[in-house]
Amino acid sequence: MSYNILVTGAKGQLGRSLRKVYEEQFKTQYEVFFTDIEELDITNQGALEDFIADNKIDIVINAAAYTAVDKAETDKENAFLLNQTAVRFIAELCQKYQIFLIHISTDYVFDGTSTVPYTPEMTINPLSVYGKSKAEGEREILERNLRAAIVRTSWLYSPYGTNFVKTMLRLGNEKERLNVINDQVGAPTNAKDLATAIFAIINKRHLISSPQIFHYANEGTISWYDFAREIMTMSNLPCVVQPIRTEEYPTAAQRPKYSIFDLSKIKTQFALSIPFWKDSLKRTLQEIKNNES
Ligand SMILES: NC(=O)c1ccc[n+]([C@@H]2O[C@H](COP(=O)([O-])OP(=O)(O)OC[C@H]3O[C@@H](n4cnc5c(N)ncnc54)[C@H](OP(=O)(O)O)[C@@H]3O)[C@@H](O)[C@H]2O)c1
Repeated sequence: MSYNILVTGAKGQLGRSLRKVYEEQFKTQYEVFFTDIEELDITNQGALEDFIADNKIDIVINAAAYTAVDKAETDKENAFLLNQTAVRFIAELCQKYQIFLIHISTDYVFDGTSTVPYTPEMTINPLSVYGKSKAEGEREILERNLRAAIVRTSWLYSPYGTNFVKTMLRLGNEKERLNVINDQVGAPTNAKDLATAIFAIINKRHLISSPQIFHYANEGTISWYDFAREIMTMSNLPCVVQPIRTEEYPTAAQRPKYSIFDLSKIKTQFALSIPFWKDSLKRTLQEIKNNES
């Protein structure tokens, strides 16, 4: 029997990575409907219900989101519309039609004051509008009786769209020197690795009977400065990266200074082995070089 999966936000970084992993590994197992706002606007409750009912959807992967972290500070309404209200619509429909839901959230639900890696159970305290809107989206799922996995991730990158890796490659080709923040630590997440983990969760979804939170990032802990330096080194770019403090690079939204995840829950529950960040970065840089984006 083949199961029907709906992917929302399919043109985003994660959406496109899900498509790649699906085409490489899972084509025979699942029928996947890849949709973005043109095909299915997740803020349109009626359109969502029609799509889900018409296509007999068994599983939803919500990869759509409002992800412009700084813009959200002055565009609160739209951030909450996409990251909370639309998530409520999806959660209600998943409950009604007994659909398994995978929803993606973020390390920005934390305030970064912890001194030990964040487990999924630890108290959240978002610092930004984006973080608050994502936290409310989580709550919409957690307070309902449905089968769902909320996967929090951090520092997502891929060959697609705009992300830190692509920005560093561009700046590394344009500039001789670059200042990068050294006092925010966390872990990058390769979107293709996350997409692989999502399919692993789907394959073992029988283990989930109520909403649960998981943390996923690549293995290892670094600062943005460490990340930038490695990108330049691996790409043979002569650009000199200089460490600076957060205060020297003001942004509209405040970010957590510490967003290291404890990954044990997702690894244990789904028997996952998570790649080390440098190995995944190397693969992505090669993909970008080969122009696979
Ligand atoms: N990027 C990160 O560093 C990061 C870190 C932690 C967690 N996350 C989370 O990871 C998930 C995936 O992030 P991502 O980087 O892949 O995001 P992304 O590249 O911004 O992709 C989101 C996609 O959703 C689409 N979309 C916007 N409004 C929509 C609507 N009303 N209906 C349907 N689709 C809509 C977007 O289209 P437009 O581009 O046209 O708006 C875009 O294609 C999100 O939940 C995000 O919060 C991301």
